[in-house]
Amino acid sequence: MVFRMFTVLTIVLVAVMLWGFQASNASGSISKGKKVYEQYCLSCHMPDGAGVPRLNPPLRGTTWVTGDKNRLIDVILNGLDEPVDIDGETYQNPMPAQSQLTNQQVADVLTYIRKSFGNNASAVSAAEVASRRPGKKGRQ
Ligand code: HEC
Repeated sequence: MVFRMFTVLTIVLVAVMLWGFQASNASGSISKGKKVYEQYCLSCHMPDGAGVPRLNPPLRGTTWVTGDKNRLIDVILNGLDEPVDIDGETYQNPMPAQSQLTNQQVADVLTYIRKSFGNNASAVSAAEVASRRPGKKGRQ
């Protein structure tokens, strides 16, 4: 009986610790990602992710941001130069590649935008970014 209680307590403790670790990990990524955003994205996409009408698309609730991670990572690594339709508006300005960022910086900034501006999508890891670097396509 005592042994069983001890086991249950241990499981609860480990679960709480893991949960706390994951939560602090994601929030660390978000605050680092915010800094990357302020330096490399804010001038075009604006502090609140609202973009600039007819020039730079918003990052709020777009399927580009909250949808497929690979497509999103590719936008950062390769830039984007195709018509993008968001909220009945077509954007056609090219976005320059941000490939000078490290895998970790790309992961942090994408985690930030996927969890900000009213978005709530899963985090992006540095390994996921690494697998999309040119020359690594098709691997992993
Ligand atoms: C020089 C201005 C500029 C900068 C800097 C810039 N973008 Fe963009 N971004 C654009 C434009 C313009 C488009 C639309 C491209 C097109 O129509 O082909 C775009 C498209 C996007 C899209 C896909 C469409 C959408 O709105 O969901 C995402 C996601 C995105 N940018 C994220 C970022 C992130 C993250 C950064 C910083 C690492 C960044 N951008 C930096 C101008 C910029």
